[in-house]
Amino acid sequence: MKAPSRYPISVSLLHWLLAIALIGNLVIGWLLDDREGLLALHKSIGIAILALALIRLTNRLRVRDQLPPSVNKTGTAAYFIEGMVHRLLYVLMLAAPLLGWLKTNAAGHPASFFELFTLPTLLSRNRELSHWFGELHAMAAYGLAALVGLHLLGALAHRLLKGQNIVPRIVPLPRRPLPKARRLAD
Ligand code: HEM
Ligand code: HEM
Repeated sequence: MKAPSRYPISVSLLHWLLAIALIGNLVIGWLLDDREGLLALHKSIGIAILALALIRLTNRLRVRDQLPPSVNKTGTAAYFIEGMVHRLLYVLMLAAPLLGWLKTNAAGHPASFFELFTLPTLLSRNRELSHWFGELHAMAAYGLAALVGLHLLGALAHRLLKGQNIVPRIVPLPRRPLPKARRLAD
């Protein structure tokens, strides 16, 4: 059977839903110092991200046989870097909200989702742990932002250096055949 040239629609939809939520919550996180009123919204979006990231990872494993092959040749540095960046993005999109949850509990607060429900309390109040989970949460968020930057540079490099537009591979449309590596010059 011919290898697919696009990601399955479930992978693409979750990719863009999480991209919007993650970038939005990074921006809200950076605004928190000046606008404390945004904290409840930040936590609620973060909890939604944790749930969506778990669904995304489970779905990614479910459809692992239906993924298009990488645009990079196996064994090349680009192939290795692409794999590492994607794996680390998954690790940090789970670790950042988990650390935010731990920080919140250690600060003595519940992690509430739009006041509809509260996540279980994982830790009792502890000032020192609250400080350290706060630091780790910020580091995970900065790491995530740096990886998203690398991810975008990768897509840009394919466009500028190889003349390949890889974005249609992850556009959530029903699958129809695409030319394997779409050349801009064609
Ligand atoms: C992927 C999801 C999340 C992202 C990208 C994110 C990002 C951020 C960022 C960038 C900051 C500012 C860090 C700084 O510059 O010091 C921040 C602060 C904070 N976040 Fe999140 N966050 C996420 C999820 C959560 C969740 C789920 C919670 C709690 C349930 C949470 C609770 C907090 C708290 C309490 C602060 C203030 C920390 C402090 O004062 O030290 N975050 N977050
Ligand atoms: C927070 C933001 C983002 C995250 C966390 C993220 C994460 C990922 C991950 C993990 C993959 C691998 C496919 C998978 O296993 O799900 C992927 C694929 C992809 N992403 Fe993103 N992404 C983000 C934003 C963007 C943006 C803004 C673009 C716009 C150019 C983009 C373009 C792509 C493309 C083109 C692919 C397919 C790569 C291929 O050809 O195999 N992503 N993304």
